[in-house]
Amino acid sequence: MAPDRDWWRHAVVYQVYPRSFADADGDGIGDLRGILSRVDYLASLGIDAVWLSPFYPSPLADGGYDVADYRNVDPRLGTLEDMDELIAVLHERGIRVVVDIVPNHTSDRHPWFQEALAAGRGSEARERYIFRDGAGPQGAEPPTDWVSMFGGPAWAPAGDGQWYLHTFAVEQPDLNWDRPDVRADFVRTLRFWADRGVDGFRIDVAHMLTKDLTEPLPSRDELALIPVDGQHPLLDRDDVHEVYAEWRQVFDEYDPPRAAVAEAWVDSSRVPLYARPESLGQAFNFDLLEADFDAAQFRRVVTENLALAAASGSSSTWVLSNHDVVRPATRYGLPHPPRKTDGHPAVKHGVQWLREGGSDSAVDRVAGLRRARAAALFMLGLPGSAYLYQGEELGLPEVGDLAAAARQDPTFFRSGGQDPGRDGCRVPLPWSPDGPSFGFGPGPAHLPQPAWFAEYSVAAQEEAVGSTLRLLRRALALRRRFAETAVFEWVDTGDPDVLRYRRGGGWEVVTNFGPAPYDLDRIEMAVTSGLNIMGVVPPDTTVWLAPASGA
Ligand code: NOJ
Repeated sequence: MAPDRDWWRHAVVYQVYPRSFADADGDGIGDLRGILSRVDYLASLGIDAVWLSPFYPSPLADGGYDVADYRNVDPRLGTLEDMDELIAVLHERGIRVVVDIVPNHTSDRHPWFQEALAAGRGSEARERYIFRDGAGPQGAEPPTDWVSMFGGPAWAPAGDGQWYLHTFAVEQPDLNWDRPDVRADFVRTLRFWADRGVDGFRIDVAHMLTKDLTEPLPSRDELALIPVDGQHPLLDRDDVHEVYAEWRQVFDEYDPPRAAVAEAWVDSSRVPLYARPESLGQAFNFDLLEADFDAAQFRRVVTENLALAAASGSSSTWVLSNHDVVRPATRYGLPHPPRKTDGHPAVKHGVQWLREGGSDSAVDRVAGLRRARAAALFMLGLPGSAYLYQGEELGLPEVGDLAAAARQDPTFFRSGGQDPGRDGCRVPLPWSPDGPSFGFGPGPAHLPQPAWFAEYSVAAQEEAVGSTLRLLRRALALRRRFAETAVFEWVDTGDPDVLRYRRGGGWEVVTNFGPAPYDLDRIEMAVTSGLNIMGVVPPDTTVWLAPASGA
């Protein structure tokens, strides 16, 4: 790999959700050899990096975000040797590798937690987690009435009058980041993967690690009234950056320095704290993902985030999709655009539709795909880095109507089925129009794929002129001509439904969010997400205009 220190600033990063990407051994769960078998495909996309969601040993209570061993590979997914091979092969193809670090919580199967349960109250082992005495006689009640992010109480009984905190599923006990041994162990994990050649890290819920649990603990209502300004007991505390300052020193020991991106669901004004060079260096900006397909919203998000990125010395990351949210091709085809709700807004996108049964008849698939393609091209033209989630390059819709018996997401179980959860965006990829799992593997997939997956398959889209796959490949190839330039300026269109911006070298991006066609003053269209009509941007369409010189 070329020793470029700044590759992450303008990289297109493709998120692989390993369990659902490709299954080589036929057990229904995607694996590392499956990914290895698809390296040609990854290279053909023209991406700069792959981000692998967790592949570590895990009971899969939360799709692998419940890690039982941070420095190993789940035997169902492969071996450390497979991982070494994958890193080497991707590097040979010029693709960097980002892995997921999950520091807020471990799996309840992690040896530390097993030790803590066995060692009992007052033990050193319990100090690595957040154990508290229960309230009421014999500690039979949880210490507080806090609720977990996945629904239900945030405390679970240890069986001896003590309870442990789990911000997410009951199988994901929160670690105690006041402990030097917890801190030291994660540094060891970072070095372990960096030494194996990993180029960067995605930090799961980076804003939650440090906590102030001084007694008496506030109630849920009291907690809700405390401002999230750096001193909140549980969220986005200023002292979390002490952890990242230490990590930064580790990243900078390497040449080139290892990159990191924070998954931090914090107020936009506080994102730069995570994106500073002395902290993680980059932080996801989820604002585009949360926006409706709407010119005013997209414009505001871009303007604000470019300013925030500049303020932090970082570059913006653009995201429309990931393994936690309803896929864009469905989101943009819903009759009532989802609104921002409290809590974890993006996860709520489309949830109303899912709650109503996720019926396809409620979704305008054609409009949804048209807008998803337009949004993707809008995003890929922007300065900064962009993340694509596996299947986004296929315009794959959400699978809304998964049977209850097939569902795996803990949010579904913890909400008593009220919240259908995130399985619909995690259904294994269709590679071919037929076969027991549309080419995902030699047998059936761990989540059932609907019959309509055939038409979205990679093989079908390789053939079809104008397919989403071919569109994105072309866009990623063209993007290289201007991605590294800093130039960005809005161009006035005189139409509130049409956004236009200029990039370096004279490249321009025009998106028509409105219902009427928009006439261009130029005809040098390099790529269009919709109908190819010379000099016109049809509704729900993005075009890229090549420089007049044809550079
Ligand atoms: C954010 C991850 O993206 C999500 O999938 C996971 O459930 C939570 N963090 C908890 O680790």
